[in-house]
Amino acid sequence: MIKGANRLQTVEEYYFSKKLRDINLMIASGKPVINLGIGSPDLQPPQKVLDALTESLSRSTAHKYQSYQGLPELREAMASFYKEHFKVSLSPKTEILPLIGSKEGIMHISMAYLNAGDHVLVPNPGYPTYSAVTKLLGAIPVFYDLKQENNWLPDIMRLEKSDLSKVKIMWISYPHMPTGAHADYKYFEELVAFAKRNDILLVNDNPYSFILNDTPKSILKVSGAKDVCLELNSLSKTFNMAGWRVGMVLGNSNHISNILKVKSNMDSGMFYGIQKGAVEALKCSKLWYLSLNSVYEQRRQLIWKLATALNCTYDEKATGLFVWAKIPEYFKSDEFTEVVLKNYQLFIAPGHIFGSNGEGYVRFSLCAHSEEIEEAIARIK
Ligand SMILES: Cc1ncc(COP(=O)(O)O)c(C=O)c1O
Repeated sequence: MIKGANRLQTVEEYYFSKKLRDINLMIASGKPVINLGIGSPDLQPPQKVLDALTESLSRSTAHKYQSYQGLPELREAMASFYKEHFKVSLSPKTEILPLIGSKEGIMHISMAYLNAGDHVLVPNPGYPTYSAVTKLLGAIPVFYDLKQENNWLPDIMRLEKSDLSKVKIMWISYPHMPTGAHADYKYFEELVAFAKRNDILLVNDNPYSFILNDTPKSILKVSGAKDVCLELNSLSKTFNMAGWRVGMVLGNSNHISNILKVKSNMDSGMFYGIQKGAVEALKCSKLWYLSLNSVYEQRRQLIWKLATALNCTYDEKATGLFVWAKIPEYFKSDEFTEVVLKNYQLFIAPGHIFGSNGEGYVRFSLCAHSEEIEEAIARIK
């Protein structure tokens, strides 16, 4: 029997990977399950993105290996996107690296900076990949609390009192997944100062800035942030291109070249047509964002109704692709979602999968048609 590596014992199969198998079995057995569990956009990418991909296929260079750093045109489009939407100037030559999705960036950044035994500050609740990748590399996740009473922001004073001597990376993600909470620029400044004082690489994972949010922010806008910060961004949610796998990491040239050292040993570039499509997406006008958000706005109204019908409460000021809702006190989040799945064939994500502070909450995705959400409400009533 060939044994897997020890690192396999540090992680479990991703919750959604397991759960979606069960859901698909339910569907195959005739149960009409409505999936409000995952954040995989169901809307179409912009038409000009699809056209660019189609047109690219006949180019003689389209099917060759592509540059490890991505097409210059793509990096330039990413730089213009950051300039236009975040007012952040970045050199397309040295401060931007296209990624095959921002999820892989979490691994590349971690591989570029972590040694076994290093500590990593990870949000609780937060995206499970930060801690999984940390553990796979033999480093140690140190969870920091995010609580509703603190608007889901880290308590910097409290963090500063802890032993930070082994901390190498701190992950943040604002607008926050799963809660939809925001950090303002004053708070970003405090976080950057904290990272500088403690020699920590602060990474803002920022895929949700354009969903139901009028004020997209980048940590890199803070003066001096490039010294200690990186930002991840993604086309998955903003342009409905989750399956295309296009993300980016942005920061100073030293950090970017360290990450490229890892990444160029792991993949051999991104398909040409995908890069051409991504360029078109990044050039979208305000109209794109308006039309995308008008759909999500309508869906969110319905999800709020659904949450209320399930006796859940939520913050109307939260943004992003999800509604994060508090469940009735007498339930654990797992019990609650199982009851909802069994009684109404409605799949929502239990909050505990994002960390212990997610217990008592559930996450509804906006990635379902209004008709499906209306059907879900009807089932409960
Ligand atoms: C907080 C957060 N970061 C990163 C990702 C990964 O996005 P991508 O599709 O760019 O890999 C997700 C996806 O759901 C996410 O929720």
